[in-house]
Amino acid sequence: MSGHTDMVLVDDNGMRIDGRTATEHRPIKIEAGVLKNADGSAYVEIGKNKVLAAVYGPRECHPRHLQNPTKAIVQCKYNMQAFSVSDRKRPGTDRRSIEISKITAEALENVVLTELYPRASIDVYIEILQANAGTRCAGLTAASVALADAGIPMRDIVPAIAAGKADGHVLLDLNKEEDNYGQADVPIAIVPSTDEIVLLQMDGNMTREEFDKAISMAVNACHEVYDIQKDALKRRYSVQKGGESNE
Ligand code: CDP
Repeated sequence: MSGHTDMVLVDDNGMRIDGRTATEHRPIKIEAGVLKNADGSAYVEIGKNKVLAAVYGPRECHPRHLQNPTKAIVQCKYNMQAFSVSDRKRPGTDRRSIEISKITAEALENVVLTELYPRASIDVYIEILQANAGTRCAGLTAASVALADAGIPMRDIVPAIAAGKADGHVLLDLNKEEDNYGQADVPIAIVPSTDEIVLLQMDGNMTREEFDKAISMAVNACHEVYDIQKDALKRRYSVQKGGESNE
């Protein structure tokens, strides 16, 4: 997020370098139940981002000292593959992946009915196969579909998307160039049934008015992501009912 480039990110007609208007998200594809050995899983593409999520549980919580006698805990591991970015990413956990794992688990804990499973753990694994900005949102979007696919009781599923600012314009769902050279990035996740915000971060600078505009743009788009998540789960369910499965 340097805020400086000679590249024109938004042209005089308000068009972005990938042909989108300010309020358009990148194409989104979601498939539920893509892995045989996990309790639940999902694959998500948002533009050039490619993300897999797998869920195990509820199962006995390890390490045991993390067990909560009143409810289950949600543990998340966000991992970016070495080949997911153009400069090879050094494999393993780093500060960024610890942060993203934490905020993802906290967002999901808002919807999972954890009180039904004292002492248990619900484990969420997010693998970023290809990254192009917005991976934490794509990961969270995939994780909540995977949780639903695992049959984990939830009061809703969580869609996520970012809004931000580049070339002085408030834009939805920044791509890599807009993220790199833009002025702000604001990832958001909501509980659609109540419009509660369960994830909100901000990188860069915006005015109060721009921030309000970014939030309302992202909240609206979250409802679109939500519809695509529900469609993926309905497709998965109808395939199972028809006796077929992709397993
Ligand atoms: O992916 P997200 O926007 O949630 O997080 P970010 O930390 O703002 O990263 C933005 C983008 O930078 C990622 O999506 C990747 O495309 C890229 N990135 C990278 O190339 N190498 C890294 N080690 C981390 C991020």
